[in-house]
Amino acid sequence: MKRRCEAPRERRINPHPPRPAAPPTPRKAALILEIQGLVKQYGRGGDVAIDGVDLHVPAGQVMALIGPSGAGKSTLIRCVNRLVEPTKGTITLGDVDLTRLSRRQLRVARRRIGMIFQEFALVDRLTVMENVLSGQLGYVGFWQSYLRRFPPATVNRAVELLERVGIVEQIDKRADQLSGGQRQRVGIARALLQDPEILLVDEPTASLDPKTSRQVMRLLIELADEHGLAAIINIHDVLLAQQFVERIVGLRAGKVVFDGTPDELTERVLTEIYGEEDWSAPRKQQEEDDAEEARAAEARRVAAPNDPLAETP
Ligand SMILES: Nc1ncnc2c1ncn2[C@@H]1O[C@H](COP(=O)(O)OP(=O)(O)OP(=O)(O)O)[C@@H](O)[C@H]1O
Ligand SMILES: [Mg+2]
Repeated sequence: MKRRCEAPRERRINPHPPRPAAPPTPRKAALILEIQGLVKQYGRGGDVAIDGVDLHVPAGQVMALIGPSGAGKSTLIRCVNRLVEPTKGTITLGDVDLTRLSRRQLRVARRRIGMIFQEFALVDRLTVMENVLSGQLGYVGFWQSYLRRFPPATVNRAVELLERVGIVEQIDKRADQLSGGQRQRVGIARALLQDPEILLVDEPTASLDPKTSRQVMRLLIELADEHGLAAIINIHDVLLAQQFVERIVGLRAGKVVFDGTPDELTERVLTEIYGEEDWSAPRKQQEEDDAEEARAAEARRVAAPNDPLAETP
């Protein structure tokens, strides 16, 4: 359909090649997300999903939120962007109390929050490029977005981001032709296009194989670092969280029951968060997977010493 093709065509007729990748944005040192006394009860007499949470996320910090199913992880991060309305408490981003904003003010504030959630999954019938550009819909005017016309600078930036997340070759492919890991990369590029200050990520690796999960986690961490972003990554895979983030917060029944470094997340603490389980089995499996990956990477490196894809996974 004509309208859907506008944005990529604008890119193609651009006589100038895309600018080289911009230097990373400097850290936004002032940003702090502060959650105080947060309570979320779904309906009168319903589940208390969040039961008095205080959480402070310093600028640039990437933290993982773990906990059993139903612990309130998704509810907590959805309260931050008010996809779920908090019942009590305050959530301050920088100096703005998000819980007190009108709908219109909230739309503006949400531009500062990059969301990588299942419900913002890609539009299957649109191309990779169109999906990424849809991250700008809060910025461009109504007619621009309706006609899918975007300023060349935005289109160039989208190309840069797609290069950065390693998927620029698929730029004109429809989203429904991508693998799970590729889709996740497009979602990450889309969130970054709005130049957020914090990323909220809900289960980024839920449907991915172990190797792709690690690649996606690594990409998220690197990008957060390059752009000076804080991030809350809600994740089921404890080992992955321990491998990649500096801080882990454990939720159980809507309360914070652990807040510490990956090293402090001992088997005793894990049992407190999740209940009884043999935590040594998945650790051993992870060590075996790591060793297997390292062996495969070494074999690829020896076979093709100049191939960048032959690096360690
Ligand atoms: N829209 C809703 N209406 C009513 N109750 C809800 C709603 N969403 C979540 N809940 C309840 O709130 C609690 C926390 O749910 P939430 O989805 O936040 O947990 P979670 O930690 O993200 O779980 P999972 O790991 O399975 O995604 C659960 O008891 C759930 O049933
Ligand atoms: Mg959830």
